[in-house]
Amino acid sequence: MGDCVIVYEGLNSMKAVYLAENGRFENRFGIFKHQSWVGKPFGCKVTATMGGHGWVYLLRPTPELWTQVLRHRTQILYLADISMAVTHLDLRPGSVVLESGTGSGSLTHSLIRAVAPTGHVHTFEFHPGRAEEAAVEFKQHGLGERVTVTQRNIEELGFPDTLHGRADAVFLDLPGPWKVIPSVAACLKPNGRFCGFSPCIEQIQRTAEALSSNGFTDIITYECLLREYEVHRETLATTVRLAEPPAPKRPRTAGPAAPAEAKAAAGPSSAAGGEAEGAGAKEAGAGAEVKEETVADAGAEVKAEVKEEAGAAEVKEEAKEEATPAPEAAAAEAEAGGSKAEEGDGGQPGTSAGPSAAAAAGAEAAAGEEQGGRGKRGGGFQRPPPPASMLQAVSARPNLEARGHTGYLIFARKFVCG
Ligand SMILES: C[S@@+](CC[C@H](N)C(=O)[O-])C[C@H]1O[C@@H](n2cnc3c(N)ncnc32)[C@H](O)[C@@H]1O
Repeated sequence: MGDCVIVYEGLNSMKAVYLAENGRFENRFGIFKHQSWVGKPFGCKVTATMGGHGWVYLLRPTPELWTQVLRHRTQILYLADISMAVTHLDLRPGSVVLESGTGSGSLTHSLIRAVAPTGHVHTFEFHPGRAEEAAVEFKQHGLGERVTVTQRNIEELGFPDTLHGRADAVFLDLPGPWKVIPSVAACLKPNGRFCGFSPCIEQIQRTAEALSSNGFTDIITYECLLREYEVHRETLATTVRLAEPPAPKRPRTAGPAAPAEAKAAAGPSSAAGGEAEGAGAKEAGAGAEVKEETVADAGAEVKAEVKEEAGAAEVKEEAKEEATPAPEAAAAEAEAGGSKAEEGDGGQPGTSAGPSAAAAAGAEAAAGEEQGGRGKRGGGFQRPPPPASMLQAVSARPNLEARGHTGYLIFARKFVCG
């Protein structure tokens, strides 16, 4: 009891829970008694003991997960900046690191793990409450041996003299880091590394000047941004048809119903617009996401998306129909002269886009055959191109908005003095 566990409800929904004798965890999927989790391995799926049949996963706490679930007492560093800082500070087991301010301890957890089991993090925070809370949290997480939290105004006093010449790396996340650079220079061992995080570029400029005038070299500043890509399987049904020459226009007299039929033929996919939600409907693993997208011939786009989260499954179908069918498609459908292409509708709620498009293509093929026959009878109509083939491809689309800007990281190195 007292251990920390990360409760995973979905990729973007996790919570830290400290196990207690009579503790309960409650969410929209049910009530879970802490007792029922005791002895279970990390990574396991547990079901609600009351109030529902939902489930969650129990994960081992890691610095990365902690950064995502911690209670914000201050602004914090996030994973893009943390990973950059830890890597460029060249931290390794046995390293000694100085940090200020401690803040919410988001970065500190990653620093501790990087230097464990033999290194040490000395972290300094001038706000007494924050220093106290951070120290309690590190102990609760079993990290008390690897970190010392001290309440101290670092900008005014610098780091304690006892740390002079003892640090492999120093990290500052303070309003005025340039004020501390002389003390940083005194604390770093030869070839030691420095990193400062600042939200404003003006702070970085002042820090760079201070670093340069205190004998630091290799001064470099980065901004870390994250760009997400949407990678999924797509079924394309247009490629072959688009390469074909457009079908000739049928004379108006050939079939008065043609325009209406053409519209109807483009429409089946628009019937799919259902949205269903239900707890535990499917069980492919929390957070799993399968997307399939089909672009059909007649300018209609059918999108089927299946999303699953812990305790709840969500099935969405979306259909978009362009205001006007693509010219080739309209012409081909008009050529069909009242064929029953729309009977091939596969876009019913609950079916996947693949079969839907296949059915639509099949129906068009049938319409094409019929039209071809009539064409011959009618004298001189060109046989329409063969049905579109289905092309399977994995697409990767970048999200145009890069996320993650919270500030800049400035790095520097202090070589052995000559
Ligand atoms: C933005 S927070 C640090 C967040 C931390 N890096 C994290 O990831 O959780 C900045 C912290 O520096 C502390 N601070 C500000 N001035 C300070 C000073 N002169 N000496 C020590 N700590 C200071 C603040 O109280 C605050 O907690």
